[in-house]
Amino acid sequence: MKEIRKAVFPVAGLGTRFLPATKASPKEMLPVVDKPLIQYAAEEAEQAGVDQLIFITGRHKRSIEDHFDKAFELEASLEGAGKTELLRIVQNVMPNTVGCVYVRQAEARGLGHAVLCAKGVVGEEPFFVILADDLIRCEDKGVCAQMAAVYARHECSVLSVQEVPHEDTRQYGIVKVEPGPGGSMRVVSIVEKPAPEDAPSNLAVVGRYLLTPRIFDMLEQTDQGAGGEIQLTDGIAALLEYETVIAHSFEGKRYDCGSKLGYLEATVEYGLTHPELGEQFAAYLRAFQH
Ligand code: UTP
Repeated sequence: MKEIRKAVFPVAGLGTRFLPATKASPKEMLPVVDKPLIQYAAEEAEQAGVDQLIFITGRHKRSIEDHFDKAFELEASLEGAGKTELLRIVQNVMPNTVGCVYVRQAEARGLGHAVLCAKGVVGEEPFFVILADDLIRCEDKGVCAQMAAVYARHECSVLSVQEVPHEDTRQYGIVKVEPGPGGSMRVVSIVEKPAPEDAPSNLAVVGRYLLTPRIFDMLEQTDQGAGGEIQLTDGIAALLEYETVIAHSFEGKRYDCGSKLGYLEATVEYGLTHPELGEQFAAYLRAFQH
């Protein structure tokens, strides 16, 4: 069985819901307390055994590249000032064993197209697709590690899913499932952003996918779908005709950091549990409510 060593991070979207913050910088660089969203996502992948991060970048790629690169001047300055703890934080954004690759998506033609851009780098291996604006907080194992465990049992594509209110189905890819191998949920159909009355269920796919390389063949044959974009959901729908796909209902709390409200919720909750400022922040919030 092949190990999952690669993770694709599509970061070439326009991030229109967060303008003007995302005018010159990708939304994945928005910080929650003191770390950008993309770093939380990269840490989750690394925890699952990934050692190659593949970023599909758009017109403002520099900040993400710089974030995962060595910062000579900054490190020299922190070292000179004896700020060893900060130096450690800057040097440990990712372990040295993890490499980064950047692929340019010239035009934002949709998530499916962004994933297809990774074909040459991924090759014939299973891989994760991680949407960093879905920040998922887990007690123990991250969602990618949970999905890798499902893959180890069933050796097929895995989608992370969550129940959402019926009136919200228009915001997600929605799956219909039936009992699958070993007590799992097998996906029988998937549809992008259905109206509540057309949705086959209220099980929504969130931003973690574990895909077999066959998805690339499917995406190559996928036409523009909802919103004129090449949709990953349509590629997965085609994959269902050839392979088993399992839906994994993950353990953890998801924050939709692509929306302003979800981002604020994440900021408050990560702030409250932050080792340095959690207590002070809680005191501030208590005082603020009164
Ligand atoms: P979204 O649907 O959240 O779109 O993309 P968006 O453009 O980022 O944000 P809004 O809705 O305009 O605010 C889902 C993910 O797919 C990536 C985005 O970066 C995001 O992580 N994406 C989307 C691409 O990399 N390329 C695309 O062409 C489209």
